[in-house]
Amino acid sequence: MTGECRVERLAKRVAGTPRELRTDRLLLRRWVPADREPFAALNADPKVAEYLPGALSRKESDAMIKRLEGHFNRHGFGFWALEIRDGLCAGFEAHFTPCVEIGWCLGPTHWGRGYATEGARAALAFGFDVLGLEEIVSFTVPGNAASRRVMEKIGMTTDPADDFDHPSLAEGDPLRRHLLYRISAPAGQTKTA
Ligand SMILES: CC(C)(COP(=O)(O)OP(=O)(O)OC[C@H]1O[C@@H](n2cnc3c(N)ncnc32)[C@H](O)[C@@H]1OP(=O)(O)O)[C@@H](O)C(=O)NCCC(=O)NCCS
Repeated sequence: MTGECRVERLAKRVAGTPRELRTDRLLLRRWVPADREPFAALNADPKVAEYLPGALSRKESDAMIKRLEGHFNRHGFGFWALEIRDGLCAGFEAHFTPCVEIGWCLGPTHWGRGYATEGARAALAFGFDVLGLEEIVSFTVPGNAASRRVMEKIGMTTDPADDFDHPSLAEGDPLRRHLLYRISAPAGQTKTA
């Protein structure tokens, strides 16, 4: 079974379902032009990029929004823009691909308030309840304690046998080694992907 066939099947399940998710404090929504500037500022921030392959230029950041929106247009789901109601953040081959990944990236002024965990729980529920996924993965470097904590708080677990070298990072890069976290659908809830 190829990844592409699988994603097409997932896309059919999304048809007719809400394109936005709401939690108590957050709106997970599609990307709009007004997101470009704050997203570029976020992606240029060295604190945000500390555990990522590198800070992004404005052009690279805009291109990422285009890719994220392109995924939504083709498949009906993807990485949402995270808006605080009153913000955000994969393709390569590895031993665990094809997969569906969950990830997060917030501006530093919003860290430590549980937003990433809250948004991630809503996104996981969407992945299992609406998409009927069997498994969702996430990955980060060993030193990204905040991100690992979010993964653990939402019930993901890691196994040293799953550790891998990120293919986008060169040999010798201190951020190359990654930990893989996985979570399976609640029992009895999967549809065949
Ligand atoms: C990772 C990130 C999204 C977390 O966002 P957040 O909204 O602060 O996350 P939450 O508040 O939901 O949870 C963070 C948890 O990590 C813990 N934490 C934060 N920094 C930590 C550290 N240095 N060591 C140990 N735990 C830490 C917090 O205490 C909290 O756990 P708790 O609820 O048990 O106290 C945010 O730090 C970020 O955007 N970082 C830059 C981009 C990035 O690295 N993204 C992940 C790529 S894999």
